[in-house]
Amino acid sequence: MTEYLGAIFDLDGVLVDTAKYHYLAWKQLADQLNISFSEEDNERLKGVSRVKSLEILLSLGEKDYTENERKQFMEQKNEVYVRYISQMDETEILPGVVELLKQLKRQNIKIALGSASKNAGLILKNTKLQNYFDAIVDGNDVSKAKPNPEVFLLGANRIGIPANKCMVFEDAKAGIEAAKQVGMLAIGVGTIKNLPNADILVNNLEEIKLSKL
Ligand code: BG6
Ligand code: MG
Repeated sequence: MTEYLGAIFDLDGVLVDTAKYHYLAWKQLADQLNISFSEEDNERLKGVSRVKSLEILLSLGEKDYTENERKQFMEQKNEVYVRYISQMDETEILPGVVELLKQLKRQNIKIALGSASKNAGLILKNTKLQNYFDAIVDGNDVSKAKPNPEVFLLGANRIGIPANKCMVFEDAKAGIEAAKQVGMLAIGVGTIKNLPNADILVNNLEEIKLSKL
């Protein structure tokens, strides 16, 4: 048995691999604006809000754009992204996810989503993961992006568990920082190079042993 009573999950990169769709959608915009944008550049967008992602992408080019143009770019990118994620199904759930969610349920551990994405609802619906969650907090609920801990604090609050009794599963550095700031156990899904500050590090959720946490 674990001493933790709540589990908060990031979505993109932890439950599903949507980074490839974000990349394809941003890439289409980058090509249109004649900005060179590689998969390596895309790494910097992981865990980062849509507004900030656009900022990073535009900083790779030389031109300045008005507020209105930026808004249009974000809408356009999102339309393309939504087209991709509309085709998603359960086969795109990452290894170990369903088993871990079931195990948490069996142990009466409350489960929340803590994602920056405004598209979380559609992804959870298409992958049929939504029913595992006691609370869903996403980009539509918060105004401050990770590393600000707002999204995780709201998640903890909605499942009624104190922050220090929550574990967080994250693949982005900003998310690990957010969790640690408020005393949550920060479980990194990724590499030591990308997530040097995680309390625990795994390659994927298959490696999680709840009894060891
Ligand atoms: C995060 C992703 O989960 O959500 C970021 O890691 C993304 O890459 C952010 O920019 C916002 O997503 P969306 O779907 O609202 O554009
Ligand atoms: Mg993520």
